[in-house]
Amino acid sequence: MCGIFGVTGSTEPLGVILSGLEALEYRGYDSAGVALVDLSSDDLYVVRVAELTRSVEKLRSMVADAPVTAGAAVGHTRWATHGVPTERNAHPHVDCTEKVAVVHNGIIENHRELAGTLAANGHELVSDTDTEVIAHLVEAELAGRPGLREAVRRSMAILRGDFAIAVVARTEPDVIVVARRTSPIVIGRTDSLGLVASDIAALLGTTRELYLLDDDEVAEIRPGHVEACDLAGNPVELRRHEVTWSVADARKDGYADYMSKEIHEQPHAIAQTLLGRITADGATEIEELTIPSEVLAGYQRVLLLGCGSSYHAALVGRQSIESWARLHADADISSEFRYRLSVVGPETLVVAVSQSGETVDSLHAIREARRRGAGVISVSNVVDSVMARESDGVCYTHAGPEIGVASTKCHVAQLALLQVLALHLARARDAIDDAEVRRVTDGLGSVAALVERAVGRAEAYMDVARRFAAVDNVYFLGRRSGLPIAMEGALKLKELAYVRAEAYPAGEMKHGPISLIEPGVVVIVVATRTPLWEKVMANVEEMRARGATIVALADEGDDETAGLVDAVLEIPPTLELLTPIVAAVPSQCFAYAIARARGNDVDRPRNLAKVVTVE
Ligand code: AGP
Repeated sequence: MCGIFGVTGSTEPLGVILSGLEALEYRGYDSAGVALVDLSSDDLYVVRVAELTRSVEKLRSMVADAPVTAGAAVGHTRWATHGVPTERNAHPHVDCTEKVAVVHNGIIENHRELAGTLAANGHELVSDTDTEVIAHLVEAELAGRPGLREAVRRSMAILRGDFAIAVVARTEPDVIVVARRTSPIVIGRTDSLGLVASDIAALLGTTRELYLLDDDEVAEIRPGHVEACDLAGNPVELRRHEVTWSVADARKDGYADYMSKEIHEQPHAIAQTLLGRITADGATEIEELTIPSEVLAGYQRVLLLGCGSSYHAALVGRQSIESWARLHADADISSEFRYRLSVVGPETLVVAVSQSGETVDSLHAIREARRRGAGVISVSNVVDSVMARESDGVCYTHAGPEIGVASTKCHVAQLALLQVLALHLARARDAIDDAEVRRVTDGLGSVAALVERAVGRAEAYMDVARRFAAVDNVYFLGRRSGLPIAMEGALKLKELAYVRAEAYPAGEMKHGPISLIEPGVVVIVVATRTPLWEKVMANVEEMRARGATIVALADEGDDETAGLVDAVLEIPPTLELLTPIVAAVPSQCFAYAIARARGNDVDRPRNLAKVVTVE
């Protein structure tokens, strides 16, 4: 998952490109590069760097010699898939004549085959990447002088895989040609500029006139002008995209980093997401979900899908749907579901959870589910995201743009919205009584305030965490709704602090992993007051007996639990199935504090990227 940015028509394209790449760095940052059409010579000006987490910053220091007069320009910030992060493998990649430059996000699956054919035809490929073949394919097509757009369209016809590309050529100084299949790309226009980027936030500083390209479409961007065609060359109408949030939403606003800003935005994200979803009489309204209740009521089974934190939200959604809608529900990891011969058909409603709405594992999973006849609802934080466009129904969280790689406000917004969806299904099936509806809607009505209280305890959570800054082996344990909480906590500690952390069903430890428990091992247990509290505390005793240090995630003022463990992360109590929303906060703060204590970049953890658009 990389970031692509391009501009044509600007008097200072390099500045525009570098700011665009900075806004895209959360997508990948192990190397970066730019290509400008140098109007003062017959060449392209190309600079690439590989600096692991600070590539765009390094790039900015290396372009002092850039041409003063430049035409079209493209830039790229990379998350390596094929070829280690080096200057040679950084984008843009050029052809043999160095007159064509390509930036790419995604994977070209048949690149080896194509590289073989190109080499046999005399092309010299210099990198280890899959991307470079595109530059040489376009070069070969350009030999017939069809024009850049045509050359890209013909090249695209023989590419296999998921990709978004932007191409410039010395022969057409003010043109950028872009094309996509699955991977996202957004086009921007002003009266004098033509722009392209991998996501909306990177363009909002320059224009709000945005267009989306559909699968297998190619667009030619000139200053102030954009036109597109399909793979067969037929002209297509580009779809205008309306944006609901501002550039300011994507800034740090005085916080040390995006993650701490987004942790503090969680109460607002939940309140915005729940706004207007629950009526005074407990009815649920999900305006954008156009699937009629009677159709929803007809499904025999719900399968929730997601990756990472979204999968953890799906696990909680599953429990709510089982409990309130009394419907058979499962949750699965998208990349596993896609290739497993699971029994999914018209009787199944698939609910795909993805904040970005672009995660390629989840996108392919919903395509597979639809291919098997299932109905699909996507839960996304990005309006009109690729997954939203390819689903039968969509439910939007309203958390605003999330920049920090570790999901925080989008995760809790997903959890809140999945509760509403579960209630919506329960009411559609008439499976829940009014008293229970009241209990749940009251709980939902106060959950944002409870998260506000938990956020208010951030410093206390971080004080506890700092006691464990040196630990390297952590178990997270939970039962029932406590298990997804434990899984999310472990993921945060892994992705931010690089600590070996494993989440496990508390009752399952004695079937093996307890052999790893010894003095020095820290066990974080979800011990809020559910009907399973005693079972959980019995598991705590098993861990203590083997010398583990126990940290409990417990209800505020629960002195009994506090007396049985070494440290407590207290949260305001709420309904069991709403607890994951509140409990996410101490887990985030715990991981954040240890990551900071270790000097890690909490917004751009190593080896990670915010949006995973490759398999
Ligand atoms: C979570 O902190 C991670 N950033 C990652 O696991 C993420 O949840 C996963 O990649 C899914 O992303 P999505 O919600 O955009 O599909």
